[in-house]
Amino acid sequence: MAERPYIVGNWKMNGTRTMLSEARAIDRAAQRYMKVEVALAPPATLIHAVHKEAEQIGIGAQDCHPGEFGAHTGDVSAAMVADAGAKFVILGHSERRGGHGESNALIKQKIESALAAGLRIILCCGEDLATRDAGSAEDFVVEQLTASLPDIADAAERLTVAYEPIWAIGTGRTAGAGDIAAMHEAIRALLVKTYGKQQGGEVRILYGGSVNSDNAREILAIGEVGGALVGGASLTAENFLGIVVGASEAMES
Ligand code: 13P
Repeated sequence: MAERPYIVGNWKMNGTRTMLSEARAIDRAAQRYMKVEVALAPPATLIHAVHKEAEQIGIGAQDCHPGEFGAHTGDVSAAMVADAGAKFVILGHSERRGGHGESNALIKQKIESALAAGLRIILCCGEDLATRDAGSAEDFVVEQLTASLPDIADAAERLTVAYEPIWAIGTGRTAGAGDIAAMHEAIRALLVKTYGKQQGGEVRILYGGSVNSDNAREILAIGEVGGALVGGASLTAENFLGIVVGASEAMES
């Protein structure tokens, strides 16, 4: 596991201001687990409010438009989410790829725009069940990443990759330890090929898909897993902190 595991909650399209108390509770408790880096990506409407509450945790956005500004009704740019307090942005999530037809090329443009706005990136990748069953999951993910990784020389310093098999998201199913290990090794090899041994070796690779307080410790103990991207179990402080505690314990074992 990475020196400091990175546990990121993705609230997706959940949360109004009534959930600020959960964010506050997560932030205050995270101060007791300094060996773990904790972050939250609330919906865009809450970025600023959560940012104002947070003393310890990192705050990020779940998406941004590739352009800087202009006539794009309903969209928000990387500079806008940064202005609201985001320090990172999740890009290429399968719910954006599937629900909004996002291509690898578009995701690459968004990454470049987010880097230009000073944000860190969590780039998501992952295969569907048919691809996994066909035995081509690793080829598929490597192709996804190859087509969207930024060419910018120092991009690796601000990059995190999240492997989220689509069939494990919100289903209660997690990938097997062997499959997670093999996929994370394939991603590491690609990162090293793209950014060199030193920089490519330091990019954190998160696992996501039905991570909860019961399975976090086991998943985080798998080689090359540098943290977790958590959906449903990040919506309450109680559940999310169970994962943070698991990460902290995994560091000590
Ligand atoms: P769940 O943890 O709800 O499966 O969601 C994972 C995810 O998509 C995080 O980005």
